[in-house]
Amino acid sequence: MSKQDTTSTKMLRFRRSERHLHWALAIPFMICYFSALTLVIDYNPDPTRPYREIISWVHRISGICLFVFPVIALLINRHDIRIYFYNVKQACSWNLQDVKFLFLMVIAPIFKKISLPDQGKFNAAEKINFMTLMGTYPVYIVTGALLWITDGAILAFFIHFGAALIATPLMFGHIYMATLNPETRVAFSGMINGYVDRHFVQHHHAQWHKDNYHGTVPIHAEDAITTEYEEDKEKADKKSSEENLNVLKPAC
Ligand code: HEM
Repeated sequence: MSKQDTTSTKMLRFRRSERHLHWALAIPFMICYFSALTLVIDYNPDPTRPYREIISWVHRISGICLFVFPVIALLINRHDIRIYFYNVKQACSWNLQDVKFLFLMVIAPIFKKISLPDQGKFNAAEKINFMTLMGTYPVYIVTGALLWITDGAILAFFIHFGAALIATPLMFGHIYMATLNPETRVAFSGMINGYVDRHFVQHHHAQWHKDNYHGTVPIHAEDAITTEYEEDKEKADKKSSEENLNVLKPAC
């Protein structure tokens, strides 16, 4: 991975529109997942146990939210639609470096000397997570609606259940990386306030950093001045003067 510089900075990794969409998907998804897990583990062996109906409705309502919240997020951020297309393109663009990354990431924690290939905005594992979500999202919605309307379409049930099985390792792996793993949890702030330590980005998303920055300056500065820029700039200026940090914004 690229050599890091020593300037202490924070940089914008995810815009407000990206964070909105992430949580609009993630929160209902997790409620759907854990309510379904409760139904399967607790209630399947004995469906007469109390409160089954409540859990079932929690699952249905969170399923509706899984459809409605992202639509709302997209609508309120429609001016920033470009960033969504950019992210989809990033997640779907694969090259040899990504394949190499996938192989090496498994052994890199053991063999400390192994250096992982430079990655773009999303690393190869994140691309898999992203693509799986894009592929399975419509499946959950369509099969969930079918299950509700027809009250027991068996094929829809197996597809719905199968998609949730596929999501299981990805979701737990993703949450572990974002919240617990000391190497990567630094990035959590990126999904809260948008900003992540620049050294982290330089190390984990070196290609994206290179593509967007030259030294400490965003390459397409005029592109960086978009949507939330003014508001963020105010915050950033304040923070920057407080902490004496340069806050950087990438083009995308
Ligand atoms: C407590 C739960 C969660 C936390 C703390 C969390 C946190 C994060 C963070 C920090 C990132 C940015 C990673 C980076 O800098 O590259 C991210 C990205 C992402 N998250 Fe989550 N997330 C959560 C749940 C979910 C769920 C349930 C889904 C799926 C419905 C999801 C889907 C994604 C996707 C597709 C991305 C972009 C690709 C990737 O980085 O894997 N997240 N999340």
